[in-house]
Amino acid sequence: MTTLTETLERAPALEDYFGLSDAELHERIEAARRTLGERLVILGHHYQRDDVIRHADLTGDSFKLSMQARERPRAEFIVFCGVHFMAESADILSAPHQKVILPDLGAGCSMADMATVEQVEDAWEQLESIGVIGDFKVMPITYMNSSAAIKAFCGEHGGVVCTSSNAVPLFDKSLKDADKLFFFPDQHLGRNTGVKFGIPLEQMALWDPSKELGGNTEEQLRNARLILWKGHCSVHGRFRPSHVDQVRAEVPGIKVLVHPECTREVVEKSDLNGSTEFIIKTIEAAPAGSSWAVGTEVNLVNRLVARFPDKHIRLLAPDLCMCATMYRIAPQNLAWALESLVAGRVVNQIIVPDETARWALVALDRMLAIK
Ligand code: 13P
Ligand code: SF4
Repeated sequence: MTTLTETLERAPALEDYFGLSDAELHERIEAARRTLGERLVILGHHYQRDDVIRHADLTGDSFKLSMQARERPRAEFIVFCGVHFMAESADILSAPHQKVILPDLGAGCSMADMATVEQVEDAWEQLESIGVIGDFKVMPITYMNSSAAIKAFCGEHGGVVCTSSNAVPLFDKSLKDADKLFFFPDQHLGRNTGVKFGIPLEQMALWDPSKELGGNTEEQLRNARLILWKGHCSVHGRFRPSHVDQVRAEVPGIKVLVHPECTREVVEKSDLNGSTEFIIKTIEAAPAGSSWAVGTEVNLVNRLVARFPDKHIRLLAPDLCMCATMYRIAPQNLAWALESLVAGRVVNQIIVPDETARWALVALDRMLAIK
């Protein structure tokens, strides 16, 4: 029998991988995958770089990947090539015997970091203190891009989680069930979805957590149908309405397809908007010869360009719209995480505390129940 000391001696260190060539890393990752077999599933978000996504068993948007975490009960290890909130959701949705691993713990999401649970609790208390919660039924909804603690807050307060692929059916139901929605943390997805339901901008209050009452008057909050947390994605924030004008002037007839994390002005000027999975399906179904300007993360757009040489696809903005935190998951981290598993050592495991996981699951299950 191998002792713990022997196991730890065999386990590799991350630094060991920095000097390896691309080919060596590729080979070692594949060898580790073969050794671990069905004990392992690697999930890859669409924004991952090519040299990582090529090793994924399954790819998807954050909604699809969270479902897949649940649908692979035989895999003992779920290695999540994505960002922290996605790995947390996978841990919540997976079975107790499964371990979720994030190959680089620094792979966060700057938008998710724009709302802490303490700030959300404080905002809720302020709304209670002025009677907005009480006189009205307010439902908290959090975007998937948020901490497990905020998802748990929503679960405990009758709320739900949503993703960019199901925001419309979720708002549809929630607007019937409640007088007001308090949406965290992406103001743009919240606003873009609210507009689809005909909610005027005057009935959308923006909640700035650094200000008393989020920077609103009591009257504004009483009149609001949607209260939007002041968060955003800096990657999608780089797309500007002028980029849409420019590309339309350059390529007559081009279709503009964007992610709903873009600003309302960009989404309104676009032809279509939807999640990363929606963007891929739309391009797949487009006729040969058609032209597309795509407003989302560059790794995904570059892959679409390479995959569909018969279609004219380009990034909507001329500058590099790359998610720097997603990019942190490099082949070195993946090789280290997998070979550590082969050596019997679980590194970078994401564990959501039981009580948080219990309530977050309530909010996620409410989401999954809505088609
Ligand atoms: P999707 O849900 O479309 O995968 O988007 C997640 C994300 O982080 C987009 O920036
Ligand atoms: Fe977060 Fe934006 Fe990166 Fe998506 S693209 S993970 S929202 S920082």
